[in-house]
Amino acid sequence: MNHRNLVSINDFSKEEILRIVELAAEFENNPKPGLLNGKVIATLFFEPSTRTRLSFESAVNRLGGRIVGFTDASSSSTSKGESLKDTILTVNNYSDLIVMRHPLEGAALYASEVSSIPIVNAGDGANQHPTQTLLDLYSIKKTQGSLENMNIFLVGDLKYGRTVHSLLMAMSHFNATFNFISPPELRMPDEYKMHLDNLGLKYYEHSDFTDIISRADIVYMTRVQRERFSDPMEYEKVKNVYVLKKEMLENTKANMKVLHPLPRVNEISTDVDDSEKAYYFTQALNGVYTRQAIIASLLGLIK
Ligand code: CP
Repeated sequence: MNHRNLVSINDFSKEEILRIVELAAEFENNPKPGLLNGKVIATLFFEPSTRTRLSFESAVNRLGGRIVGFTDASSSSTSKGESLKDTILTVNNYSDLIVMRHPLEGAALYASEVSSIPIVNAGDGANQHPTQTLLDLYSIKKTQGSLENMNIFLVGDLKYGRTVHSLLMAMSHFNATFNFISPPELRMPDEYKMHLDNLGLKYYEHSDFTDIISRADIVYMTRVQRERFSDPMEYEKVKNVYVLKKEMLENTKANMKVLHPLPRVNEISTDVDDSEKAYYFTQALNGVYTRQAIIASLLGLIK
């Protein structure tokens, strides 16, 4: 296949990641309304989504492209037993690029192996969410002025949270120090810690962060991923484990920002929302510019 995909954040080199971040800023500062004229983008969402799907669709609409797709596997022929391969081969006939979210880890990789057009992974199970990561990097660069040498706190569900897995891999290009805050049941998987060990990067594991939050440049909160638990009782035990409250921000760095991929359940108290350190809704807006950069880049419309 003679095209690029974005299945894993590891598909992009450090230089390519930096280029997407730079392009996202260009799209934000100089919108390009006709860039996708004549292009059709398919959004195949086998799992629920608000931000990822709507920001992709907004990104395409604002560039003059068209959208086809489905928001729910039950409204597609998957519900009649159609295979993922047959779905992808069919949608290849109707579009120029496919954005796909799927509950199974590896589904996006498999789709990329059978597809004749670019596949963008919009989240595959607990594995990866690379477009979220690129918008997270854009958000970090915009707020901190740099991606280098950040002290980043990853809080919550580090086992099932695909956004933290992709973010760790990306930030490992930039000499980050990681603080992992999770209950024992939801620790960062060993494969990611081994990746940091191999690079000689520092990470620390904690069960609480109240006393150390003053060291953070970025506090990246995550939701406990209820849908990934096979035992509902296990979810009940950990669902309320961390709640970021406004008073916890008092002694934090002046430029510290709270990020969250959203949706939020209760892990950020709503009284944080009006703090200048709360950045998560602007982070969601940054998804539009970043996804414009990703689509334009994968379609070869911009270098
Ligand atoms: N951040 C994110 O993936 O949100 P959605 O599930 O709403 O797309």
